[in-house]
Amino acid sequence: MKDNLSINLKNTNRFISFEEVIAFAQQSVRHLDTLNAGTGPGNDFLGWLSLPDDILNRLDKIEKTAKYIRSVSDTTVVIGIGGSYLGARAVIEALSHSFSPLLKTKHHDVIYAGQNICEDYLSDLLEILDGRNYSIVVISKSGTTTEPAIAFRILKDHLERKVGKTKATERIIAITDARKGALRSLAETNGYETFIIPDNIGGRYSVLTPVGLLPIAISGLDIRMLVSGAKAMEELTRNNKNAASNPSLLYAAARNLILQSGKSIEIMVGFTPKLHFLAEWWKQLFGESEGKDGKGIFPASVDMTTDLHSLGQYIQDGQRILFETMISVKNPVKKLTIPAEKDDSDQLNYLAGKRLSEVNHNAETGTTLAHNDGNVPIITITIPALDEYYTGQMIYFFEIACAISGYILDVNPFDQPGVETYKANMFTLLNKPGYEEAARKIKERLK
Ligand code: PA5
Repeated sequence: MKDNLSINLKNTNRFISFEEVIAFAQQSVRHLDTLNAGTGPGNDFLGWLSLPDDILNRLDKIEKTAKYIRSVSDTTVVIGIGGSYLGARAVIEALSHSFSPLLKTKHHDVIYAGQNICEDYLSDLLEILDGRNYSIVVISKSGTTTEPAIAFRILKDHLERKVGKTKATERIIAITDARKGALRSLAETNGYETFIIPDNIGGRYSVLTPVGLLPIAISGLDIRMLVSGAKAMEELTRNNKNAASNPSLLYAAARNLILQSGKSIEIMVGFTPKLHFLAEWWKQLFGESEGKDGKGIFPASVDMTTDLHSLGQYIQDGQRILFETMISVKNPVKKLTIPAEKDDSDQLNYLAGKRLSEVNHNAETGTTLAHNDGNVPIITITIPALDEYYTGQMIYFFEIACAISGYILDVNPFDQPGVETYKANMFTLLNKPGYEEAARKIKERLK
């Protein structure tokens, strides 16, 4: 049997005692019960809780489509934003070659669109796609989100002009609601292959649906391993009422106690750039789930050791409103040692023969001690390796912790009413039909 992800609270001890955390986590079991009973706020959106099991018998279709896309193209553009984008990118960037697009060996590139409205970004992308044999996976649960809708309109037109309408149709996959939304109608009118995003799963909890799994499978990663990691974490956390052995309960309790002690910013820290987008996914998961009704912990992230040379100063010495959640990866996948040099002109011979991971682990330990000395509590999450299995574990671990944490804060962790405000203003400014009255008011305001 494989080890599980583990949580270490040694470096929060000076701020909140382990006994306090255990007691608070034990009290929070009631939130786990509420989740399992489906009686809390947002209970229409709990499909992700049993997803690892539910999705297992639907992986065949996802794998078959991924195989087909890989056989007809060398590149896939994944179009989506927020929860319809970050999960796939988090997993793909964590587990793929760091320089994928530059690899000379045969591989399939996954690139992204629809996560911004930048004219230069999309123009640059079109230039690249002129020379690529590509497919499109367009993802939108509502089917009406502006950013991916614009990107899809432009890319669909590009692909149809490049390979013809019939071939383009064979290379476009739409992932959307079963019945409603413009993307659903578009897919049906044009005859695209589709996958459904279940009604009871919100965007940021959807990485283990086709939303995340199809792009991940297209990139060549093992989605069965990812799902089995998530399943192992479901088994460890979902019905485990013994707080001391439930890492998600401990994490939710510890971060809320730290918040209550006055620290309202949580920084996710990774010591590999491969975790950059996992932190982006985590930020959306917690930020959108908790940041409402004037409550919530602000989620931020840094990539170490890179950011020790930028934000490191602030973390060490700035306002004491921060705590960290460090993702510690025990073993790298590859091996690289530092060579000896005869004349030692760069004075690095004391490191000769050491693996880079040993240096990196010492940087991690040194940073932990320094930040702890600087009054930064640190929660450490350790995984044995950054692979599909443990990435799956992290996904479920954070999702269930986020839901528990939202209930601790007494917010609905499954809605995002605040996201609508900018949309209404943007539609008004762009004269979208139906926004005429608002347009009059906004023009007054902008005078
Ligand atoms: O988590 C969420 O619900 C959001 O981030 C959505 O995923 C995001 O707004 C995109 O929405 P849609 O999939 O409807 O295009």
